[in-house]
Amino acid sequence: MRLGILISGRGSNFEAIANSISRGKLDAEIAIVIANKPGAGGLVIARERGIPAKVIPSRGLDREQYDKLLIDELRAHDVELVCLAGFMRLLSANFVKAFPDRVLNIHPSLLPAFPGLDGQKQALDYGVKIAGCTVHFVDEFLDSGPIVLQAAVPVLDDDTVESLSARILAQEHATYSSAIQLIAENRLVIEGRKVRILPENPSA
Ligand code: GAR
Repeated sequence: MRLGILISGRGSNFEAIANSISRGKLDAEIAIVIANKPGAGGLVIARERGIPAKVIPSRGLDREQYDKLLIDELRAHDVELVCLAGFMRLLSANFVKAFPDRVLNIHPSLLPAFPGLDGQKQALDYGVKIAGCTVHFVDEFLDSGPIVLQAAVPVLDDDTVESLSARILAQEHATYSSAIQLIAENRLVIEGRKVRILPENPSA
């Protein structure tokens, strides 16, 4: 399964996906990494690992114009699954239609709690005792599509945004690859808001 990974920054989720592939835990290949910011740290990771990467700057373009550029680039690389990995832009309905049920996102909260920016800080400020991450299909709304997998972590009394974010990030790295592997194995059925996970095929 050919992946297109969209990033805006550090790229640690992208790197974790690349690691899962190289360890043989994920049956996929990264066809292209696209960053909307020239300074995205993930671009350095891609270069070091010899993974094709490209910057398509979003500055100055409206959503439809920008998403058209993304769609063309992803199609040019025969991408079958688009993975948003710290990609801090909302995608248009046309983008979502171009890859039906084939766009995933990872978010650092237990959705529907704390969508948007700084999910970990929102959780800490709210005083929840359990936080976590969510991998979900993407629709044209913010952090709102059907949920594939979630992982929970405790919030400790002395947590800072940094310590909680690090605990969540470790779960993000494991959970994202697991969700992608479920799609590679064709084991997800979307029924409205619900995503059913089919059992493993023992003969596969
Ligand atoms: C991750 O924590 C990801 O869940 C979050 O941005 C970070 C990117 O880190 N995404 C969102 O908040 C999306 N709403 P990374 O660049 O190291 O993967």
